[in-house]
Amino acid sequence: MTSTPPLTPPNRFCNVAVVGAGYVGLPTAVTLASFGHTVTVAENDPTRLARLRAGQPAIQEPDLEPLLRRGIASSTLHFTPSARTAASDADVIFLCVPTPQDLDGSADLRFVQAVIADIAPVLRPGAIVVNKSTVPVGTAHRVADLINRRDVVVVSNPEFLREGSAISDSLHPERIVVGCDYAAPAYVVAGLFAATNAPVLITDTATSELIKYAANAFLATKLSYVNAIAGLCEATGADVGDLVTGLGLDSRIGAKFLNPGPGWGGSCLPKDTSALSVTARASGFEFPLLDAVIATNDAQFDRTASKVLSLLDPATPSRVAVWGLTFKAGTDDRRDSPALEIISRLQASHVTVTSYDPTVDASLAASDLAGITLFNDPYEAAEDADVVVVLTEWSEFARPDWDRLANVMRQKSFVDARNVTDPAQAAAAGFTYLSVGRREVLNPDFLTTTTRSKEEQA
Ligand code: UDX
Repeated sequence: MTSTPPLTPPNRFCNVAVVGAGYVGLPTAVTLASFGHTVTVAENDPTRLARLRAGQPAIQEPDLEPLLRRGIASSTLHFTPSARTAASDADVIFLCVPTPQDLDGSADLRFVQAVIADIAPVLRPGAIVVNKSTVPVGTAHRVADLINRRDVVVVSNPEFLREGSAISDSLHPERIVVGCDYAAPAYVVAGLFAATNAPVLITDTATSELIKYAANAFLATKLSYVNAIAGLCEATGADVGDLVTGLGLDSRIGAKFLNPGPGWGGSCLPKDTSALSVTARASGFEFPLLDAVIATNDAQFDRTASKVLSLLDPATPSRVAVWGLTFKAGTDDRRDSPALEIISRLQASHVTVTSYDPTVDASLAASDLAGITLFNDPYEAAEDADVVVVLTEWSEFARPDWDRLANVMRQKSFVDARNVTDPAQAAAAGFTYLSVGRREVLNPDFLTTTTRSKEEQA
């Protein structure tokens, strides 16, 4: 079933509960509150809850804090430790709890199940429970079975926001997808987002659930493809920068999401591709393309670590300074960060690793950073290092002070695994320099590659 919901939703403003104030829940809550809905957020971490009540976001996202404070000030946004309290008064309950990766790669639904067990008895007749977290195909039906009430409906409404632009993506989504086996609740959920004016797709729950996985797996495919092409550029002497420009000008391919790097990571792409692969296997469907996408990413981590190791003398103790620890720029999130994958490969080769990341305080004792000597300054991290490697594309890494770096390092070697620095500047400062699939030695006679728009050419 695909249809367009009415422009005016049946209830203009609703009482909404959002369970879980993480990267999906909090942006969803502040956005819905900014549209005029009354939103109660349930967060069971006491520290996080206290901060939120004081108007301090528990996660680092641009534009989040002002919306949070505005919601609190206008009494459209409330916080409670109890999912049961939040859900008991709500017309619509968004489940935004984590769905981590289980040992076999599938999605672990233990948090979803615990919330359902807690709230099912107190839901109002006619309440709509919405799966916003990324959940495997069939979860809406499983949740409906767990709730086991004929007067409550379960809807799938996947979230497509990106970390680092979560608020902008929530206020201006490219689409709203709603999956439901009944039309009326689907219209209510779609109507909550009427202020966004985004295109709405209403479909069945299985299709809606699968759209989210298909989107993330497609993005991962694009990245594994471009990383493999970058490797081919290195093998053939071609330049991946010009190559992706040439690719991206084809509107069927599109210019976005084509930057090669150290491999893709984060809280979504790795776990969602693995979960989709498990779903395919469990459904008896062969999906070798997806398995190759995941394997290509592991190979990219290996290739990046090997590039760094190729610049070290295996006979002497080595030190590598890693610039950037988060899985991408613009977030403080290090979950499934490519940087940590590559660091563990370097450490396995007995390399001493120092690091600087603008979101990491050097006094931080985080378990994922064990064995890494942290600094609050990139040049301090680079002191006595044999190689500096850029693993996150923070803009402050784009123009290093090459002379200063040369002065503090033991050996002048630099690996840019995000292609943010200028190879010519590195060469001018006497650095041995490697990046990803780029022509690193530039022929001065070579014309600078340019692309001109049709307007410019006219
Ligand atoms: C992703 C999806 O984009 C989003 O729609 C979904 O809701 C959640 O998962 P996010 O995890 O925030 O969002 O990160 P994204 O911007 O997609 O980046 C994922 C990884 O790909 C990062 O490691 C990033 O560095 C890498 N990447 C992205 C590249 O290597 N090159 C690119 O061109 C783009």
